[in-house]
Amino acid sequence: MRNPIIVALDVPTAEGALALAEQVAPVVGAFKIGSELFTSAGPEIVRRVRATGAAVFLDLKFHDIPNTVAKAVAAATRLDVQMLTIHTGGGSEMMRAAEKSAQETALQAGRNAPLVLGVTVLTSMDGNTLNEVGCEANAGTQVERLARLAMKAGLRGLVCSPLEIAALRQILPEKVQLVTPGIRTGAEKADDQKRTLSPKEAMQAGASWLVIGRPIYAAANPRAAAEAFLNSL
Ligand code: C5P
Repeated sequence: MRNPIIVALDVPTAEGALALAEQVAPVVGAFKIGSELFTSAGPEIVRRVRATGAAVFLDLKFHDIPNTVAKAVAAATRLDVQMLTIHTGGGSEMMRAAEKSAQETALQAGRNAPLVLGVTVLTSMDGNTLNEVGCEANAGTQVERLARLAMKAGLRGLVCSPLEIAALRQILPEKVQLVTPGIRTGAEKADDQKRTLSPKEAMQAGASWLVIGRPIYAAANPRAAAEAFLNSL
């Protein structure tokens, strides 16, 4: 089985991210680079993490007009990332443009297309925040609606909360990749993740990849923490 653990490099500096990546690379499947690290360290951090041989998930959640998203996806594909995120709320034309751009740019570069993952409803949003922005559906209904739209637009994967995995597996084709944060064993100190599953529970529910941040990067020994997660599967 491939290693499904993606470590979120949610640290502010390139040096911190690289030190962490080198330490845990042998026991994890990929690294996630998000808005904070990318905004402070730039595309060079993607090249440097890729240069260690590790796979990279570029989590910048693109949401713009189709032409702009397509160009951003092309740039990410040229950086040789293996996964990236877009907001499904940008609509089906935007999603189709993103997937097409990933495929075409990868073909030109002679490599596999990155997995373009759709973000549905942010887990920080609930029924009230959805109503606030004019969406009458509850969060669960809206997640399903956007997930179906993403499939129609040709996306091959989605990001979802651990508690959405089982319901999404009921309505999605089997080959769709589900990437889930909110993974906790229960042993770590409480933080802002409220709805969590253990790594094993998430995999059993149908997750393809697990995104783990603080329980690994903030551990006294990140390498040992990552190994413990892997062994718990
Ligand atoms: O530290 P922690 O394990 O909570 O990190 C989870 C990672 O997944 C963070 O990078 C966070 O931004 C991201 N994420 C999340 N919940 C979502 C979407 C993304 O925790 N719904």
